[in-house]
Amino acid sequence: MRVLLIGANSQLGRCILDRVPAEWSVISTTSKDLDITDSIQISHMIERHKPETIINTAAYTAVDNAESDEAQAFLVNAVGIKNIALACEAAHIRLVHISTDYVFDGTADQPYQTTDTPNPLSIYGRSKLAGELLALAHSSQSQIIRTSWLYSEYGHNFVKTMIRLADEGREALNVVNDQIGSPTYAGNLAQAIIELLHQPISDRLLHYSDSDIMSWYEFARDIFAYRERQGLSYCEVKPVPSTEYTTPVKRPAYSVLQSSINIKEKASLYGVLDSL
Ligand SMILES: NC(=O)c1ccc[n+]([C@@H]2O[C@H](COP(=O)([O-])OP(=O)(O)OC[C@H]3O[C@@H](n4cnc5c(N)ncnc54)[C@H](OP(=O)(O)O)[C@@H]3O)[C@@H](O)[C@H]2O)c1
Repeated sequence: MRVLLIGANSQLGRCILDRVPAEWSVISTTSKDLDITDSIQISHMIERHKPETIINTAAYTAVDNAESDEAQAFLVNAVGIKNIALACEAAHIRLVHISTDYVFDGTADQPYQTTDTPNPLSIYGRSKLAGELLALAHSSQSQIIRTSWLYSEYGHNFVKTMIRLADEGREALNVVNDQIGSPTYAGNLAQAIIELLHQPISDRLLHYSDSDIMSWYEFARDIFAYRERQGLSYCEVKPVPSTEYTTPVKRPAYSVLQSSINIKEKASLYGVLDSL
């Protein structure tokens, strides 16, 4: 299968590249090779490489910054996705695009199903929801996978931030205990995408998260408990309410997704921590 991977520098893109099946031929692009806000660049890339499938992991992901940068967030997360979807439809290409738990408002008390109604609290969430709708409307072979709380050995993420702070000598950290979600290893999501692409298209909207349900505080506590057992740097973690941690944007209090994809083998947090 010829695959165009857009967003190859993202955490998820790099995890996909680590797991490319032998029978795939992958062309991967960063924002320098292909800016998704430019439809002409997308058409040229498709004409040149003739992919059968596009995986888009590129996005404007700076949740807090988006509040003061709405036009750019929508340009990348909505217009950029519309550009990709239209190009896929014209060239009969299957599209897998990634979205977020932040399309929900977090008022649920049980995992969100794909049939639940989104109601994003943030510009980021609204721009990602717009991207979902545009992909589904403009490409008949598109599939959206929503995911949550990504971490990996790559890029910027919560796990790497916790380890950096411990390595810098911080002894104690306040971490919010009233936002509940499912930390998800980007390598497991990469595997879910690969397995999905071995199946014909059925559901157009899917959820994939790892199965643990916890607060950011509990996640930090698990990371440091493991590191303490390994004799590595760690911090004491103190639970605090979100009201004590001022951010430009309100995040959902509960954004657990009911997964609709099961993968054969899942890597654990501890395996990822061992690799860092
Ligand atoms: N991180 C999370 O916790 C989380 C949670 C839920 C859902 N998601 C979704 O999962 C997907 C992957 O997230 P991630 O954390 O792996 O992403 P990431 O590491 O933040 O990377 C995003 C990538 O998007 C690329 N990009 C930005 N603007 C672009 C443009 N105009 N044209 C082309 N590329 C552009 C950047 O490319 P360059 O580096 O080449 O500039 C960057 O590498 C995204 O759709 C995100 O919304 C993430």
